[in-house]
Amino acid sequence: MSLHHDVEEVLLDTDTVAARVTELGAELVRDYTGRDPVLVSVLKGSLVFLADLMRAMDLPMSIDLMEVSSYGSGTESSGQVRILKDLSKPIEGRDVIVVEDIIDTGLTLNYLLRYLGERHPASIKVCCLLDKPARRLAEIPIDYRGFTIPDRFVIGYGLDYDERYRNLPYIGVLKPSVYGGAPPED
Ligand code: PRP
Repeated sequence: MSLHHDVEEVLLDTDTVAARVTELGAELVRDYTGRDPVLVSVLKGSLVFLADLMRAMDLPMSIDLMEVSSYGSGTESSGQVRILKDLSKPIEGRDVIVVEDIIDTGLTLNYLLRYLGERHPASIKVCCLLDKPARRLAEIPIDYRGFTIPDRFVIGYGLDYDERYRNLPYIGVLKPSVYGGAPPED
C-alpha cells in the first residue's frame, strides 16, 4: 500500500506491529494459561489491536467491549471521560486484561481502572500497544506494552484523527498541516 498523502512518515510498519503483537500474545498465553481471562477493550481505537492480539492467544478466553469518550474531535485530551457503552457481562471474580491502543495522558485508563476495580474482578492488568509517556498526567501501571513512542500525533492501525485513518495498516505520523499545526520547517 502506498503512503497516504496525509502521513508525514511511517512510525511502525505493518510487519513490525504484527511481530510485536505476536510477542505480546505469547506473553499473555504464558501468564494466563488455565485462567480463562476476559479481554476488556476500549473502542474504537483498540479494535484492530484486539482483533490481532486475541488471535495470537491460543487459550480459553472471552472479550468484552466498552466505549468511552475522552477526546472529542480534537487532538488534545480534555480529561473528560464518558462511558458510551458499558460491559455486557459482570467481571466479578474474573481475570481482566484491559486492551488499549494508546495511553497518552493516562486519564482515560485512570478512570477506567477505578471503574472496573469497583466491579471486583480477581485481577486487572493493562495491555497497551502504544505508550506515549511524554504527556502523562495520571500514572498508569502498564503490564504489557507494545511500543514506547515519541510525542507525535499517530494514526492508523485503529487510531484516528476525527474518525479517519483507522484503516491504515501501519502506524503513521499525521502531517501537522492536517490538524492545523505548524508546517514542518524546511
Ligand atoms: C484514545 C485511546 C484511549 C485514549 C488514550 O481514545 O483509544 O482510549 O485516547 O488517551 P489518554 O491516555 O490521553 O486518556 P479516543 O478517545 O481517541 O477514542 P477512540 O478510541 O474511539 O479513537
